Amino acid sequence: MSNRLYIPGPLTVSEDIIQAMRKPMIGHRSKDFVALYEDMQPRLQKMFFTQDPVYLGTSSAWGVMEGALRNVCRKGVLNCMNGAFSDKWNDVAKRCGKYAEALQFDWGKPIDPEAVRQALATGKFDCITFIHSETSTGTLSPIADIMAVVREFPDVISIADSVSSFSTLPIAKDELGIDILLTGSQKALALPLVWQFLPSANALANVPSRAPTAATTSTSSNSTITM
Ligand SMILES: Cc1ncc(COP(=O)(O)O)c(C=O)c1O
Repeated sequence: MSNRLYIPGPLTVSEDIIQAMRKPMIGHRSKDFVALYEDMQPRLQKMFFTQDPVYLGTSSAWGVMEGALRNVCRKGVLNCMNGAFSDKWNDVAKRCGKYAEALQFDWGKPIDPEAVRQALATGKFDCITFIHSETSTGTLSPIADIMAVVREFPDVISIADSVSSFSTLPIAKDELGIDILLTGSQKALALPLVWQFLPSANALANVPSRAPTAATTSTSSNSTITM
């Protein structure tokens, strides 16, 4: 008998995936693993609508969320908040030693792109976080309109969380100019919670003034996840 959970995820993992996971391990530093990783790229890139490499992380989604912040945020991060998960971004950013400001919206209300514009226009931020689908309230924010505003500020790196929307709705990462689009495997993809997906390395390449060492300069005591 299996348990049935009526939540956005973790979802029930199908029998063929469970069977595939019964195959013997391959070394994670072996050539076989490199070949497997490379083989997955074109299909992952198609799902993310991107030409960027797609990185896989073996933590829960918060691991890659924290990793993204630690790697790209130097000056300050604007956390768009309208529910439990997006509110937590602000807490995590501060505990990573980042200057972080909340752009708070009522729970259940979508992010207002005009408010984002006004906040970014202060020049205090080099990074913005927002959640496409705030799972705690089931609120979808207008990702295309938000990104149209963020693109007006080329020095600001965008980190978009699509944990509960990825693959349920198309998110045209490259077309929208999202720097880092992260998701988790345990929600609509119905995979075990061991892989998180995160494109792209281009976030830093897009902003030439950034040295890729932001993570190592953090003074906080949390573990560092360097991409
Ligand atoms: C929108 C969103 N972001 C982040 C998370 C955190 O994911 P994880 O539990 O894999 O760390 C969740 C989890 O439900 C979520 O729904």
